Amino acid sequence: MGDARRPGTEEWVPEKGGLPVLREAVQGCRGCELWERATQAVFGDGGERARIMLVGEQPGDREDRTGEPFVGPAGRVLDEALRTAGIERDQVYVTNAVKHFRFEERGKRRIHKKPDVGHVTACRPWLEAELRAVDADVIVCLGATAARAVLERPVKIGEERGRVLDHDGRLVVVTVHPSAVVRLREAEERAVAVAGLAGDLRLASDAVRPD
Ligand code: URA
Ligand code: SF4
Repeated sequence: MGDARRPGTEEWVPEKGGLPVLREAVQGCRGCELWERATQAVFGDGGERARIMLVGEQPGDREDRTGEPFVGPAGRVLDEALRTAGIERDQVYVTNAVKHFRFEERGKRRIHKKPDVGHVTACRPWLEAELRAVDADVIVCLGATAARAVLERPVKIGEERGRVLDHDGRLVVVTVHPSAVVRLREAEERAVAVAGLAGDLRLASDAVRPD
């Protein structure tokens, strides 16, 4: 793979108009090559006034088709963890570090392929625009790709979860990616993982500033 980053993503990112304008503009982004094979860009979903922003990795197969983040199997795990943590999905803004689906074709199936650091870097201006527009109190990074995108350094989730971090004046909590839970086969292991994810979400929710 060549250098995924091409200069000029910023040119596509409008400075005014908030989330609706950004959501429309992202469809025209050519900041890396991922737009070419994806169905559409999947922008974040949720209110401009959400106090918690959740950041995933990139859309999956379902998200690519529907245009909404976290609506497939990983989304179901996320919803379950949010429910356990006592957080409504409409209290949060949900997005991804990379807005287009990267995949490999195996027969008729499209298999998720992890984005390169270059894709995350190329897509960072969109995430930055969402961080600014929503201005949540707490950012939750779901998995290492999101953590790297938000904290702008490599992150080992196991070492840094369970506490509230500070980055550029933003409160940040890192946790596992819900897809890692989807892959667990044993019911007991899965329950422990969902509880862990829910615990980290509760930590984030407790860090929200009171009104
Ligand atoms: N995984 C992600 O990181 N994001 C989605 O939107 C779906 C699956
Ligand atoms: Fe642009 Fe991000 Fe899509 Fe690449 S993945 S084309 S940077 S929106």
